[in-house]
Order: sequence, then C-alpha cells, then structure tokens
Amino acid sequence: MTQINVRVDGASYVDDVEPRTLLVHYLREQLGKVGTVVGCDTSNCGACTVHLDGQAVKSCTVLAVQADGCQVTTIEGIAGSEPGAALHPVQRAFHEMHGLQCGFCTPGMIMASIDLLKENPDPSDDEVREGIEGNLCRCTGYQNIVRAVRHAAAEMRGDAADDPEASPAEVDTAASEHVVEPVAVQA
Ligand code: FES
Ligand code: FES
Repeated sequence: MTQINVRVDGASYVDDVEPRTLLVHYLREQLGKVGTVVGCDTSNCGACTVHLDGQAVKSCTVLAVQADGCQVTTIEGIAGSEPGAALHPVQRAFHEMHGLQCGFCTPGMIMASIDLLKENPDPSDDEVREGIEGNLCRCTGYQNIVRAVRHAAAEMRGDAADDPEASPAEVDTAASEHVVEPVAVQA
C-alpha cells in the first residue's frame, strides 16, 4: 500500500491505496464519488473524465498514486457545495439544450467541455466537436451536445442572449421522432 494525500472537490484526503489502483476506482470506491463513471475498459469513452490540477484527464488512465499531492475535481465538485447551489453553466446548458439522453456520458462530456471552454471561450461547432472527440456518446448524435457547449460558452462570456445558435426553440428533442401523434377519435 502507498499513502496518498489528495484534494478532491475541495476536501483533503489521506488514504492508503494499492500502487495499481486507478484514479477512477479510488474516486468511486474509496471516496464514493460515483458521479464519475466507467464506460469502457479501453480508455476510449471519456465517461471517467475529471480535472487533475485543472486539466481534463481520463481517470481510468491515471493511477491514484499519480494524483498524490494534486487537486482533483469531479462532476460532483463543479457546482456550489451547499445544498441547492446553482449548477455550473455547462451543467445548466446540457439540461436546457437537451444535451443528453441516457446521461451516462454526461459527467465526462461536461468535464471535457469545461476544459475546452477554458482554452477556447468561443468555439465553433467544429472546434467543439474536436474538443470533445475523446468523449463518446451512444445516444444523442452529438448535435445537442454541441449546442449545449456553445450555449454555455455564450453564457460564460456574458452574451447568451445574442446566441441564436443556442435558442432552446431550435433544440432537437431526442424523443420527438418517436412521439406518436394522437389520433383524432370520431364521435
Ligand atoms: Fe475511462 Fe472509458 S472509462 S475512457
Ligand atoms: Fe447516452 Fe450519451 S446520452 S451515452
């Protein structure tokens, strides 16, 4: 066992871990941070993305011992910590723009998007797609994810009202093509 000293979502932890323990398993199993999920065993999906000293990393590709002395932020640490605290603008945008269906990829998508917007506060659609290319979604077709990220970007720049791309009225609601129109019943 190796002792690590790590700060996660603003709290300090001193823990003994196996040298082979992955950061994602340490977060989920020892700290109970189950908002960070495991979506693959090939380091491809990005569902496990967290911030390590401010940089987005796939936490299934990092050993817990490599986080010794570091700051880790998970999806559980980006909103205010007090009960009822406001969501992070990127969380809010995913909600408002229907940027998810099953939601499994969403924690990683949001963490990757926050990192992207830190580097590029006004990304184009293509730049958003490139920025989140390490994160896979099996459900949405990405359209509303891209809109959500651009909507969040506009809000974080302070000009959300001028972002016609991100008008909620234009959102493709994922379920809409599956909705069966009610049949008029003859009296
Ligand atoms: Fe880490 Fe899929 S669980 S990339
Ligand atoms: Fe289901 Fe992305 S919303 S995997």
